[in-house]
Amino acid sequence: MKAIIIYESTHHGNTKKLVQAIAAKYHVETASIEGAESIDLSSYDRIGLASGIAFGKFYKRMEKFAEKIPAGARVFLLYTCGNPAGGYVKSITRTLEANGAKVVGNYGCKGYDTYGPFKLVGGIAKGHPTEEEIARAVEFYSKIRGKE
Ligand SMILES: Cc1cc2nc3c(=O)[nH]c(=O)nc-3n(C[C@H](O)[C@H](O)[C@H](O)COP(=O)(O)O)c2cc1C
Repeated sequence: MKAIIIYESTHHGNTKKLVQAIAAKYHVETASIEGAESIDLSSYDRIGLASGIAFGKFYKRMEKFAEKIPAGARVFLLYTCGNPAGGYVKSITRTLEANGAKVVGNYGCKGYDTYGPFKLVGGIAKGHPTEEEIARAVEFYSKIRGKE
């Protein structure tokens, strides 16, 4: 079982907290999206894509990176967002599935958000992800890591 999580967590490092907690418990490689293009993903049984949300989608660079995921790959998605309105995995899932990858699950939770006008009020989702939300991400991974 070989697994890797590629992450983009530029706003406050919120999503990276989920990634680090999973990697602390399970044997999972992690890599920032910078330079991830050079990784040969064909040898991994699980590929995680982890990102903050911007304008209703995974960050632009991650949405683009998803186009390069090989057909037949088993992918899971992790994200944090200021307002968990839902629908945030739709676009990237569509891209992955159009290229023949399979999305085996996704986990998302709130992440501290100081974008734009929220900055003026001290941000939203302060204190997120919480320890509990991080633990749930680890639990999510424990469930999907063996799923076909
Ligand atoms: C430019 C920008 C756009 C954002 N757009 C959304 C959005 O559409 N919906 C949402 O819930 N959060 C949005 N957020 C909040 C982030 O998704 C949230 O703070 C996330 O936890 C950041 O993750 P990171 O620290 O791992 O980068 C936005 C943040 C930024 C900086």
